[in-house]
Parts: sequence; C-alpha cells; structure tokens
Amino acid sequence: MFRPLNKPVEHWVDQRIWLIGASSGIGAALARKLLCAGARVALSARDESGLQTVADAHGHAMVLPLDVLDAAAWQAAHDAICTRWNDVDMLIYCVADYLPESVWEMEPMQAHRTIAVNLSCLYDGLAQVLPRMLRRGQGSIALIASVAGYMGLPRATVYGPTKAALINLAEILYADLHARGLNVFLINPGFVATRLTAKNAFSMPALQSPEDASRAIMQGMQQGDFEIHFPKGFTFLMKFIQVLPYRWRFALLSHYLETA
Ligand SMILES: NC(=O)c1ccc[n+]([C@@H]2O[C@H](COP(=O)([O-])OP(=O)(O)OC[C@H]3O[C@@H](n4cnc5c(N)ncnc54)[C@H](OP(=O)(O)O)[C@@H]3O)[C@@H](O)[C@H]2O)c1
Repeated sequence: MFRPLNKPVEHWVDQRIWLIGASSGIGAALARKLLCAGARVALSARDESGLQTVADAHGHAMVLPLDVLDAAAWQAAHDAICTRWNDVDMLIYCVADYLPESVWEMEPMQAHRTIAVNLSCLYDGLAQVLPRMLRRGQGSIALIASVAGYMGLPRATVYGPTKAALINLAEILYADLHARGLNVFLINPGFVATRLTAKNAFSMPALQSPEDASRAIMQGMQQGDFEIHFPKGFTFLMKFIQVLPYRWRFALLSHYLETA
C-alpha cells in the first residue's frame, strides 16, 4: 500500500536524459545538477547560448537547440540523441510560455501559442520517445506542471488551464504506462524565482530558488514519488484550498489577493 508509485531512480550515472527547457530557470538548474550527478543530458530550448553555458560547465551534455513549436524539428532532435547515445531514458518537459493577464487582456493568437508551447507540443515529444520506451519496457516521462494547475487562479487565464491539463495528462500517462514498466513523474512547483515569475507584480509566498527546486525534483524521483510538489508548506495549503467548497475557496482567494 505504501510502496512508491514509481520505480525509484537509484542512480543517475549514465542515465540518458532529454531535458526540454534547459536554457534558463528550473530547467537549467536541474540540468546542472543532473550533469553533476553523472547523467548524460541532452539540453533543448531555443536559446543556444543559454544551453551552451549550461553545457560548458559540465561533461556529458549535448546541446540540441529546439523550438517545440517546430513539429519537424522534434524528430531530428530525437534522431540526434539516438545516434549518439542510442536511446533516451527520461524525457523532462520543463517548457513554458507565461503572461500574467486577466481575460479581457488576453490576445487569442498569443493564447493559442501558449497552449501549444505548454501543452500541445508535448505530444510531439511523447510521440518521439514512447515507441522505444514501450518496446524496452522502461523509461521515464517527467512533466513540470504547477500548483497553478490545482485550481483557477486570477490572471492565469491561459497558463493555468495548460497546467491543469498537464496534471490531468500525467495521471492518464501513469494509468497507461505504469503497467508497461515506465515511470511518470508529475512535478508541481510553488513559486520559484526565475524570469517567468519575474513577470508577477504581486508578492510571491514561499519563493524558492531554482537550485532548491531542482534538488526537490531529483529527491522526489529518487523516492519514486508520482507527484513531486514543493515547498510542502505552501503546496499543502494550496491542496487544502482546492478541496474547499467553491464559496469558501473564492472568498479565501479574493481575500488573499486584496492583501497581497
Ligand atoms: N517559476 C515558477 O514559479 C514555476 C512554478 C511552477 C511551475 N513552473 C514551471 O517550470 C517550468 C520552467 O519554468 P521557469 O520558471 O524555469 O521559467 P523560464 O526560466 O522562463 O524557463 C522556461 C524554459 O522554457 C523554454 N521555452 C520557452 N518556449 C520555448 C519554445 N518555444 N521551444 C523550446 N523551449 C522553450 C525556455 O527556453 P528558450 O526561451 O531558450 O526557448 C526556458 O528554457 C515551466 O514549465 C513552468 O511552467 C515554474
């Protein structure tokens, strides 16, 4: 009953990890930690120089620029990893487009783009790595969602629904893939100080560093957790608010926003 939901990651040495969103923030910090732990990490994002900075400091990194919106580029990137490393053991999707906005400020074209980057493009990545993982009966998929996906939060008009969908998708992936030998990790960070949250005009409770976040992610994987959420004080509070009746939840959120 209390066995971990995933097979714990027992060692990182020579794990072949494809980290999308590795040029900055949580992804860059996580890539550095994984490389230090001995993993081989293929670093993807659009900003090649950001990826190179991460790669330069460590061995076993492959710089693989990728715009997730470019459907054809996914296959070329996957082929490049398989040519060099033969396969991918873990796909980490750590990509996001975020604009804090109320619904009346929303631009439909930008909304479509955010939904594509945060959610739809992940299906291109899954289509690349899953056939081989399923054949081998092993591999891991890790999705970085957010506590913003737990419930509707003001000004997360487009970002919030994409994160809720990622949480839902991780649950579906677990249901489909666990029995076939694969791990599925759902990662729900609270607030982390990155260029993404630098856009927030409100004060962010329990703000963590990208290094703290990457430590929590690796620890959760080593424990075989399905949902890896942090920092616990804040995320448990969010989980409590989520299960409240709507009348109380809305009142609490609007009180918090007035005082924030
Ligand atoms: N910061 C937080 O408080 C927080 C909280 C919960 C969840 N998260 C999640 O954590 C993940 C990382 O976010 P972060 O806070 O570290 O923000 P960040 O520093 O802005 O990182 C976002 C990453 O996504 C990449 N990216 C964006 N558009 C892309 C595209 N079209 N193609 C390829 N890569 C693209 C960026 O690289 P390029 O610009 O170089 O392409 C960057 O590496 C996201 O999924 C975010 O939703 C963050």
